Amino acid sequence: MAYFSQRTAFLAVLLMPLASALGSTSYNGLAKTPQTGWDKWNAYGCEIDAETLLDTAQKMVDLGFRDLGYKYVILDDCWSNPERSHNGSLVANSTKFPEGIKAVADKIHDLGLLFGMYSSAGLYTCAQYPASLGHERQDAQTFADWGVDYLKYDNCYNQGQEGTSQLTFNRYDTMSKALNETGRPIWYSMCNWGRDYPWNWAQTMANSWRISGDVYDSFDRPDARCPCTTYDCPLPGFHCSVMNIIGKAAPIVDKGQPGGWNDLDALEVGNGGMSDDEYKVHFSMWAMIKSPLIMGTNIPKITASTYSILANPAVIAISQDSAGTPAYRVWNREADIDQYDQGSQSLWVMSLSGGDFAIALLNAGNTSMELNATLEEIFIDKATTAGGRTKGPLPSSSGWDVYDLWANRMSDVMANSIIQGNATVNGTITDTSNSATLYNATEMSYADGIKSNHTALLGAKISSVPPMGTISAVVPRHGIAVFRLRKQDSGSLKKRSEL
Ligand SMILES: *[C@@H]1O[C@H](CO)[C@@H](O)[C@H](O)[C@H]1NC(C)=O
Ligand SMILES: *[C@@H]1O[C@H](CO)[C@@H](O)[C@H](O)[C@H]1NC(C)=O
Ligand SMILES: *[C@@H]1O[C@H](CO)[C@@H](O)[C@H](O)[C@H]1NC(C)=O
Ligand SMILES: *[C@@H]1O[C@H](CO)[C@@H](O)[C@H](O)[C@H]1NC(C)=O
Ligand SMILES: *[C@@H]1O[C@H](CO)[C@@H](O)[C@H](O)[C@H]1NC(C)=O
Ligand SMILES: *[C@@H]1O[C@H](CO)[C@@H](O)[C@H](O)[C@H]1NC(C)=O
Ligand SMILES: *[C@@H]1O[C@H](CO)[C@@H](O)[C@H](O)[C@H]1NC(C)=O
Ligand SMILES: *[C@@H]1O[C@H](CO)[C@@H](O)[C@H](O)[C@H]1NC(C)=O
Ligand SMILES: *[C@@H]1O[C@H](CO)[C@@H](O)[C@H](O)[C@H]1NC(C)=O
Repeated sequence: MAYFSQRTAFLAVLLMPLASALGSTSYNGLAKTPQTGWDKWNAYGCEIDAETLLDTAQKMVDLGFRDLGYKYVILDDCWSNPERSHNGSLVANSTKFPEGIKAVADKIHDLGLLFGMYSSAGLYTCAQYPASLGHERQDAQTFADWGVDYLKYDNCYNQGQEGTSQLTFNRYDTMSKALNETGRPIWYSMCNWGRDYPWNWAQTMANSWRISGDVYDSFDRPDARCPCTTYDCPLPGFHCSVMNIIGKAAPIVDKGQPGGWNDLDALEVGNGGMSDDEYKVHFSMWAMIKSPLIMGTNIPKITASTYSILANPAVIAISQDSAGTPAYRVWNREADIDQYDQGSQSLWVMSLSGGDFAIALLNAGNTSMELNATLEEIFIDKATTAGGRTKGPLPSSSGWDVYDLWANRMSDVMANSIIQGNATVNGTITDTSNSATLYNATEMSYADGIKSNHTALLGAKISSVPPMGTISAVVPRHGIAVFRLRKQDSGSLKKRSEL
């Protein structure tokens, strides 16, 4: 038995690239790339009403976020009455939602955005409003009737129905089936904080699953309420730092694939607890690992530096790349530990469609340092057939052009003019000190933009690395360098060697 199952696992590994080449494995046709959008929780907590939601949605259009590809506007906890109605249905709080939820969903749809709802696979939501355990079919139908496109499904008050993968699977699968029965395509976002290893079994019934307790707005501060540092965690807790969650994701990155993604939680970018460099790490790594990119800041009050991070199309393009392959950590070295013992330097590599790669050099240490990645390290997976080596020379024996995905970050002048509304997003006020332009993914998909070498997506070419060479970058304290690598074509190599 053991012999056969090992053999099957081995075959599955060999066949994996083939399966992904054959197309999506999505159980409901959604989630070809990780979800994008905004969720109110990190900025507003329990406070929410229709006006805030609709103002945010309108601003997402005005500031160009919709056309950068941010899609879902997600209502989190605290939207309902404390009691169900006489017929058992969930009812929205009429002070917060005077026209009801459907009216909000309709208006969000009219803006060209999609609408996300919230419930819990328990007796109550985390804020103790009625939740959907035992009411799955009725609630799924209510959501579908309201025009809901997305369900964030939490894990509070679950009556102890967890502790084995089967228990948790069954509890979440009941809602999955109920959503499916409505006939409406609804993105199913499981939020069970990584309990019972959802990355091992959720691909066939959900579009994303949280892998950890809730994120909080800190780069690396340990917090007793988030006790685990690995994926194997009986008490996920909350107040988990960005570096804590990245560490938990590292061993399971490849469980994310088109159809279902590891969810590292919504973004804290802009909420004030991290430096600009730390927010760049947060945003870049969520894109590299292919976590959802769900903004979590106050959009109508967004600042220029927050805007220019969340609106960097070169980074969004790697998140939304059609190959759907998360980055993995090639090495992790502790050269310079900071005051929380969290500091390490790591190299992450991701393969992209069309033969490009993205790499990230992450410096979580306390001082700026030059980090080096050799092409042999970057392409270590390609060195053996088990790593997917195909015929022909190793990629490390080619020369590669290096594009910096943060070099064209929009200036504060440009960002402020967009935020203040006296520049059209496609730029009546042009900022000649910076070649950055926003990208319009409604007009041209990210895939087409990459094919046409759009500079907003490629970033700025900063160097070329020769065969067997090394890529080096001086990376600030708690900072990151993110590069797109593009193989030099043989023509240009030939020309150069002829010179
Ligand atoms: C993006 O392109 C679409 C389609 O042409 C257009 O309707 C929209 O206004 C553009 N968005 C921005 C922010 O320029
Ligand atoms: C159940 O009650 C709610 C709230 O009163 C109402 O909106 C809904 O239409 C009712 N559903 C059915 C099936 O009667
Ligand atoms: C609805 O929300 C308002 C504002 O938060 C609150 O004062 C009120 O008690 C809520 N209504 C119910 C029925 O819970
Ligand atoms: C329901 O599930 C079936 C089988 O996986 C799938 O083909 C279909 O697209 C799903 N429908 C919806 C609305 O999610
Ligand atoms: C880390 O850097 C910060 C700010 O530069 C400094 O205040 C702190 O003392 C440093 N900690 C260690 C352990 O070097
Ligand atoms: C990277 O290489 C440079 C130049 O060889 C060297 O000075 C630096 O210490 C290296 N960085 C690390 C972290 O080893
Ligand atoms: C843009 O508008 C703001 C206030 O709305 C104003 O302070 C600023 O000067 C304007 N900038 C330009 C370039 O018109
Ligand atoms: C901005 O883009 C829209 C949609 O493509 C277009 O209609 C408009 O003329 C553009 N404005 C400027 C100033 O280029
Ligand atoms: C994009 O750039 C590559 C070289 O980096 C070149 O081979 C290709 O022809 C370019 N594509 C377009 C559409 O310009």
